[in-house]
Amino acid sequence: MSGGAELRVKIAEIEPVATDVRRFRFVAADGGALPLFSGGAHVVVGMEAGDRRIRNAYSLMGSPFDESSYQVSVLKTRDSRGGSVFLHERVAVGDTLVISHPVNLFPVDRRARKHLFIAGGIGITPFLAMAEQLSEEGARFELHYAMRARDCGAYAEEAARLYGGRVHLYCSAEGRRLPVDALLANQPLGTHLYVCGPERMIEGVIGAARDAGWPEENLHAERFQAPPAGEPFRARLARSGISIDVGPHQSLLEALEAAGIDAPYLCRGGACGQCETAIVSCDGTLVHNDHYLTPEERAGAAKIMTCVSRLAGRELVLDL
Ligand code: FES
Repeated sequence: MSGGAELRVKIAEIEPVATDVRRFRFVAADGGALPLFSGGAHVVVGMEAGDRRIRNAYSLMGSPFDESSYQVSVLKTRDSRGGSVFLHERVAVGDTLVISHPVNLFPVDRRARKHLFIAGGIGITPFLAMAEQLSEEGARFELHYAMRARDCGAYAEEAARLYGGRVHLYCSAEGRRLPVDALLANQPLGTHLYVCGPERMIEGVIGAARDAGWPEENLHAERFQAPPAGEPFRARLARSGISIDVGPHQSLLEALEAAGIDAPYLCRGGACGQCETAIVSCDGTLVHNDHYLTPEERAGAAKIMTCVSRLAGRELVLDL
């Protein structure tokens, strides 16, 4: 995998933790220690589903100080392109999987005097490891966790038990909503904000923080964006002369990988910039779904993030 070195792990435990959410515990397949990670890190889990290879990124949610196992949680989504359904229905305890080494694109910022975590739904997972790390270090943090209903709120009770008054729960089915503006207005100078959850929530909270005058460097977000589906198109690789068909439910990155091309990536969610690829030409409209390119770069039509973006047209020619 071009997301870095690989680890072979065995599934040691699968546990349902909320509606459509399962926790998976992985141990090293050779029985040894796993590399240490820091709160906010993720791994990319590789899955062989028939003739398709799926790779999804999941936040590590266990203790960063535990070398004996990794834990991830997987929400089974209705519009799943296969990864979450595969993990919910096609793997069992004892199976082996190949995962990437941990990568952290959402670390705690050491400059912060206080860490304000805002989670929505399954976006709770990176904060569990971050809270564990900060708790161990004696750093100041608060976790505000919004969920649709109690049975969707994975780890709500566990977080409240572990971190007491630092955890605040908001269940919309019970009429309790996240008081974003009040939260942002009542923080000490030097507070850093971290948001993880549905895209609309991230945009809303980060937008409200900007409107309230929070410095840009104090704002952090982690997005779990699956590549949106679209019309099929052809990618031609100018240097190697290879042509690849990209299916409607396949990302450009997945199509490159399926053709045996060792394409770079880290987040697979349009956030890190690692998969940026130069465009030679295209005969349609580029559909940029990433959070990395600037509006000027998008308008220039010279680059594409292969993990989430695609072409609405017939042929895209890449400088590969
Ligand atoms: S792999 Fe991170 S933006 Fe594509």
